[in-house]
Amino acid sequence: MHDTLLLFGATGDLAVRMLFPSIAHLLRDRLLPADFRVVAIGRQDHTTEQFRDWLGPRMQEIAAKELRDGDLDLLLPRIDYVCADLADPQSIPQQLGFARGRHCVSYLATPPGLFIAITQGLKAAGLLDAPSRLVLEKPLGRDLASAREINAAIRDCVSEDRVFRIDHYLGKAAVQNLLALRFGNTLLEAVWNHQWIESVDILIAETTGVDGRDSYYATSGALRDMVQNHVLQLLCLIAMEPPSSLGADNVRDEKLKVLRALRPMRADDAARDSVRGRYVAGVVESRAVPGYVPPAGHDTETFVAVRAAVDNWRWSGVPFRLCTGKRLSERVTQIVVSFRPTSHWLFENPRREKAAPNRLLIRLQPEEDIELGLMSSLAGSEWGALELQPLPLDLSMSRSTPRRIAYERLLLDALNGNTALFVRSDEVEAAWAWVDSIVAAWSQAELPVLAYPAGSWGPEEAADFLPGALTAPRRVDRGRA
Ligand code: BG6
Repeated sequence: MHDTLLLFGATGDLAVRMLFPSIAHLLRDRLLPADFRVVAIGRQDHTTEQFRDWLGPRMQEIAAKELRDGDLDLLLPRIDYVCADLADPQSIPQQLGFARGRHCVSYLATPPGLFIAITQGLKAAGLLDAPSRLVLEKPLGRDLASAREINAAIRDCVSEDRVFRIDHYLGKAAVQNLLALRFGNTLLEAVWNHQWIESVDILIAETTGVDGRDSYYATSGALRDMVQNHVLQLLCLIAMEPPSSLGADNVRDEKLKVLRALRPMRADDAARDSVRGRYVAGVVESRAVPGYVPPAGHDTETFVAVRAAVDNWRWSGVPFRLCTGKRLSERVTQIVVSFRPTSHWLFENPRREKAAPNRLLIRLQPEEDIELGLMSSLAGSEWGALELQPLPLDLSMSRSTPRRIAYERLLLDALNGNTALFVRSDEVEAAWAWVDSIVAAWSQAELPVLAYPAGSWGPEEAADFLPGALTAPRRVDRGRA
């Protein structure tokens, strides 16, 4: 396992909120090498002592819920701080020459505009020589052209098998369980295609707002911030063919085929197949919150719903409704796979059109839940066998194992050199190619950004994209039934 983490962007929000707490947890659980060091790199002119004095209170301020007693005492002594001008490739060889020869993982938690300069600086410093590795945070560019430019520059400096592009959703245990669910069960695999599945809904609803990330978000919006990466990765895990093994490239090859099979959006279909929204003032979780106002000249959406089609044999004709938004009514990430109705209906009650078809609900957040919606008899003698009601079967795994931050798993994998949960350059580009088609279709069709009150489920016009996702079977009291 590599023992040195060069963390670029160490004073940034992601580092303080997620990466340092993750390192603290891994230290606490003794999962890192005995001589593990973090070299925190930022533009601010701190000494190591000043940085540690700043970091401790800052973590307690914004990441308190991730910290346990003793975490900071384990973490802070492992950190050295180095000030470097990240935009100047000369600065890195000057400031980080001392790390040469150590087995380094360089983690770029910086805006993508700095990726090329930092990578070139690392190469000049000899810090990308094998077996060193490079980790890149999302977003990888803001369209296909910029992603290609970054990928090409990176390819000149380090081989692909040592590049780790993060999509933190892939580090969530619940997301990995999708692979187990799909490929560990004959029952599901047998019906996992257009013959039996009517639609798939993928929803990532957040209650948080743009909150303090205005300059990044203004040029990103929900499509680039969430759909290009997290939503599409979930779609890939649902839609991909079974890989021949769980080897990193086998899985990524299959995901790539799905991304390439996504039907590009045409301007003529934009209004039918997508909705854009932006929250205005409202009430979320009983708290009044202001609306989001992007800077002048920006048309940024905080909500997006898209009806996607995967043009291949397995998924022909199956709509994938993708929806994500900020300041929505509830925080929930879920996938609902809706099966086709039975071919012939025998029962009096409910009537056929009222019967709930089978559904598989995979909830990833806030709690991990898997529920299979079946129809079952109302069993009580007074009801008779012809009366059916929905029976959601709880298939959830044990909740006794403590949850890890997604970044803990990803940091460990990067330090160990396992690329399976990281995104390959061609995947990133295929995802951007599809997203670019949507951006172009919106622009040609002049698709408006519709207002929705914070705390709602998005613009009313998006209702058709949501019902499958939100009316998933609710658990019933089996005793009463
Ligand atoms: C990030 C986005 O990638 O994911 C954020 O940039 C978003 O805007 C976040 O809030 C959501 O992640 P999670 O793990 O909280 O669902």
